[in-house]
Amino acid sequence: MDNMGSQTATAIAHPNIAFIKYWGNRDEKLRLPMNGSISMNLRELSTRTMVTFDTALPRDIFDLNGVRQSGEALKRVSEHLDLIRGIRGYSPRAHVLSENNYPADVGIASSAAAFAALTVAAVRASGIEMAEKDLSRLARRGSGSAARSIPGGFVEWMRGNSDADSYAHSIATHDYWQLTDCIVLVSTDKKKSTSTEGHAAASASPIQAGRVQDAERRLALCRNAIQQRDFSALAEVIEQDSNLLHAVTMTSLPAIYYWLPVTLEIMNSVRDWRKAGIPAAFTIDAGPNVHVICEKNYEESVKVRLQKISGVQDVILAHPGEPAHLG
Ligand code: DP6
Repeated sequence: MDNMGSQTATAIAHPNIAFIKYWGNRDEKLRLPMNGSISMNLRELSTRTMVTFDTALPRDIFDLNGVRQSGEALKRVSEHLDLIRGIRGYSPRAHVLSENNYPADVGIASSAAAFAALTVAAVRASGIEMAEKDLSRLARRGSGSAARSIPGGFVEWMRGNSDADSYAHSIATHDYWQLTDCIVLVSTDKKKSTSTEGHAAASASPIQAGRVQDAERRLALCRNAIQQRDFSALAEVIEQDSNLLHAVTMTSLPAIYYWLPVTLEIMNSVRDWRKAGIPAAFTIDAGPNVHVICEKNYEESVKVRLQKISGVQDVILAHPGEPAHLG
């Protein structure tokens, strides 16, 4: 197929916030997770990626937000393209042009939208027809959380038994429940430690086995809370799940402390607000920023309260988003 010249496609994907977290792999290479996870896509945040396979290119090129990438970032993209080239059985190099409309590496899991968009664009550019399930499996290989950015709305990524059945599907569409993710930026510094390193370190924590063993219970509680639109049940399980993730990171070898003092201050404030009747709950990924999930009717009041906390740099509001799609 080396006489195909150039083939191009563009895709858009949203990052997602995990309500039940993915942390630790049982197969690092295939990114088969220790436990299933549940998330919500974030509509206002997106990554747009154009992939052009071109027989004239001597090597892959990856431009992110206007900056030509090299080293690890380029290698990870190239390896992902290799998977797609392998399926198609052809070998042209590609030019990947990607733009995020939000800051990368601040705990908003930019790799999820990145690998979801890259997968959809590269699969289309190479002329392969693929079902959502298989796009999700493939995106998973680039970044685990990217599996969840393929379907829309509220999404569950099943742990599965193998590569064949570890993929994500939508458990409720984006308009099923009017929730808001108030993303509280307390730091836009580049992450000290990547999620990939965190996953690898997790099994050294004695807490990890308990976290994983209890995962099916938390998944069921979260799935039911979404299906019933039961905010207090959701609040309880997502805060516990987030705390379990951080208990693991803090007791991994090496230990990773993602929180800043202001992170804890926000966590305490959110719990006080909830006691006072405001439907808000926190969840924190691999970084110091806090995602305050609330019912949409309360988003302005929650935002104003958050902005009053010293150390809060910005609050971005995001709502349930649609699936990854061609753009
Ligand atoms: C804390 O999907 O970013 O955000 O597979 O190595 O790319 P890689 O890791 P990644 O891990 C996400 C970790 C998390 C929790 C979650 O999104 O489930």
